[in-house]
Amino acid sequence: MEERTQYNSPGYTTFKMKLKKLIGIDLNSYKEQIHRRTHELMSRWGCRNYDEYYDMMSKDEKKLREFLDHLTINVSEFFRNDSQWWKLRDKIIPELIQKRGTKRLKLWSAGCATGEEPYSLAILSSVCGLDQMNPVLAADVDQGAIAAAQRGNYRKANLLNVPKEYLAKYFSTKDGGATYDVNPDIKRRVSFKKMNMIDDAFGAGFDLILCRNVVIYFTADTKAKLYKKFFDALAPGGYFLVGSTEQIFGYQQIGFVSAGPFLYTKSK
Ligand SMILES: C[S@@+](CC[C@H](N)C(=O)[O-])C[C@H]1O[C@@H](n2cnc3c(N)ncnc32)[C@H](O)[C@@H]1O
Repeated sequence: MEERTQYNSPGYTTFKMKLKKLIGIDLNSYKEQIHRRTHELMSRWGCRNYDEYYDMMSKDEKKLREFLDHLTINVSEFFRNDSQWWKLRDKIIPELIQKRGTKRLKLWSAGCATGEEPYSLAILSSVCGLDQMNPVLAADVDQGAIAAAQRGNYRKANLLNVPKEYLAKYFSTKDGGATYDVNPDIKRRVSFKKMNMIDDAFGAGFDLILCRNVVIYFTADTKAKLYKKFFDALAPGGYFLVGSTEQIFGYQQIGFVSAGPFLYTKSK
């Protein structure tokens, strides 16, 4: 790698500053792998330095979109790591309903990507008998991913973990069975919002927050700050679910109590 395209070069520092102004995302919060990805894209387009790549992206919407796609990695699926979901359905949501009733739960999919996670949560909220007054907040920094989520149309590959009875009840087939639309009653339960979790305020009083496969791309420092923000956003007795390869180091210092694998709670 040439000096002028290295991780700690002045060129990369300026690139990150300009990009923060352009897209509102600070690459300093992301691990070094993001730099490698940036560099791969630069090489693909024959850019010799960061200035050239920045100029290209600022003039060409498609190139900017491509960069964002590499940065945000929107891969998801319905009921990803399904055993966690069945625990939410059979234990956590019923317990929350018992404490708070069916009308007042605040649920949040943080880093919702193209919608599979918040719609999975909305399906379980229907299955568990929550009424529609409990909208699932679905937030992501990527407006393109949110737009796809709002369309709510998915290929079979994203739906492999969906139990047959849920598929029949909560989806309609389209394109001769090649894709599935999420039914309107489930769509109505989800409220999408563009949010940069690193910079934006979170709100408070959430009963259940899912933040899965998002912070794995962030530096340790950014992760620690985010976990504290999530803790503060939870209502007492609320739950926080992370991804199946993740754990919160030093969760006790933040105030979390472990509630099983990948699940934390805020004691009352
Ligand atoms: C791999 S997807 C995870 C989707 C889903 N949570 C799951 O586990 O299937 C990661 C998502 O995090 C989002 N993301 C990355 N940085 C973010 C930030 N600073 N604020 C909000 N969302 C962010 C990306 O746009 C992407 O949609």
